[in-house]
Parts: sequence; structure tokens; C-alpha cells
Amino acid sequence: MKALIVGGSGAIGLAVIKQLLQLKPHTHIYATYFRHQPDYQHPQLHWHALDITIEADIAKLAAQLTQLDVLINTAGMLHTADHLPEKSIQQFDVDFFQTNIQTNTIPTLLLAKHFMASLKTSPRSYFVTVSAKVGSIEDNKLGGWISYRSSKAALNMAIKTISIEWQTKLPFCCVVAFHPGTTDSALSQPFQRNVASHKLFTTQYTAQCLLNILSALTPKNSGQFLSYSGDTIAW
Ligand SMILES: NC(=O)c1ccc[n+]([C@@H]2O[C@H](COP(=O)([O-])OP(=O)(O)OC[C@H]3O[C@@H](n4cnc5c(N)ncnc54)[C@H](OP(=O)(O)O)[C@@H]3O)[C@@H](O)[C@H]2O)c1
Repeated sequence: MKALIVGGSGAIGLAVIKQLLQLKPHTHIYATYFRHQPDYQHPQLHWHALDITIEADIAKLAAQLTQLDVLINTAGMLHTADHLPEKSIQQFDVDFFQTNIQTNTIPTLLLAKHFMASLKTSPRSYFVTVSAKVGSIEDNKLGGWISYRSSKAALNMAIKTISIEWQTKLPFCCVVAFHPGTTDSALSQPFQRNVASHKLFTTQYTAQCLLNILSALTPKNSGQFLSYSGDTIAW
């Protein structure tokens, strides 16, 4: 099996790599990092530098990885050095909104565009993106975080749309969005004090949930938004 983990340097991404190597030791894993290559090495693991906002770099990587069974995009952002997510529309900032869209939405579209051919060669493939429940329009009862929410809602629409197109073009591929739950990482760190300790997951737990869910999915599940619990979330 060949798997590409985009955002392998992130907390959830690295945990997915480690779990996958434990569960399926013969898997060849190609993993991407952006700013820092993690220290973690394994004979079956191949690191690639990738800025997911640059289409030419994604295309170049796809030209190298012409056969894949699994692609999981775990890259994303919620805050930057200058900006926390908005509490009010008065804090809306065009650059911050665009950074959210560039990092959380567009990369999955580019990955689908450039890796479609690689995923087509497998008799059973998976195209998974880590989204967030706050991107569910139906579930939005609290408001706030308008840039992040919008970028994940647009990501969800992208996943749903790709899943429909691939029903005929890649009928053996399962395309899903995954909600990891609040997971201990640099991304969630500024918001962890409001989270009950039993609801703050370790990256190992989240990775285990994701891989357990994937192992039970078939192309019939394509087009779903799945929670770490295995339940579906309304788009
Ligand atoms: N943690 C949570 O509670 C939580 C909850 C809901 C959803 N999520 C989603 O889960 C995903 C993973 O989050 P995490 O908690 O693991 O966060 P994280 O530890 O901060 O990891 C983020 C990852 O995204 C990568 N990245 C950011 N900008 C990039 C770019 N321009 N090009 C390439 N890679 C880029 C980072 O690369 P470098 O580290 O190399 O810079 C890192 O690998 C995100 O999509 C997030 O929205 C997380």
C-alpha cells in the first residue's frame, strides 16, 4: 500500500504516520512538511518539502507519486502570529480570510486535481481531508471564527463535489471529510482552557479514530462528513 500524508509535520499528521506504520508495517508512506522536517524517520517513510499553497509544487509531487492508495490531507491553520480567529465581524480582516482559504480550502482542490490519476490506479483508494465540525453550516449554533468556519465550509463543499464527480471517474475511491475533535496541538493550544479534559484528545487517539474509520469505509461511504466517533455530521 502507498499513502501520502500531507501535513505530516503537524500534530495529527505525524500521529497518523506513526499509527499507520504500526498497523500496516509494509505501507510506503510519503509525507510532507512545510516549515520543519520532523526528526521522525522510518525505512518506509519518505519526507517531501511542500508548500500546499503552491500549485506547481503539488503538481511536481504528483508527477513523482504516480500510484497511491491513500491520500490524507491533515494540513491546515486556525490562527497566525498576528491573528486569532474572529469573535466578531468587526475583527474581519481580508488578508486573514484569504490565508484561511489558501491554507484550508484550496489545497484539497489542488490535491484532487493533481492526484486524481495516481488514485485511479488503485483497486480501492481513499481521498480524505481533515476538516472541522465548525465548518458545518447546519451545526453552527455559536457563530464566531468566521474565516476558519467559512474556509472549512468551502472545503466541505469541495469534498462533496469531488465525491460526486469521482462516482463515475474513480468509482473505487472513497472521498470523505473527517472531523478530529479537539486534539492537543499547536493549532488548538490557545483554546484548550475551555475544553473539558476528557474532550481534549491526544493525537494518538485521534489518529487511531481516523484509521479505524478508514478501515471500515468503502466507496459507498464516499461523500460523507465523518466525526472521530464514526458518526456522520450534517454538512
Ligand atoms: N487540533 C484540533 O483540535 C483540530 C480540530 C478540528 C480540526 N482540526 C484540523 O486538523 C488539521 C490538522 O491540525 P493540527 O491540530 O494537527 O495542527 P498543526 O499541528 O498546527 O499542523 C498543521 C499542519 O499544517 C501544515 N501547514 C500549514 N500551512 C501549510 C502550508 N502553507 N503548506 C504546507 N503545510 C502547511 C503544517 O506544516 P509545518 O508544521 O511544517 O509548518 C502542519 O503540518 C487542520 O486542518 C485543522 O483545521 C484540528
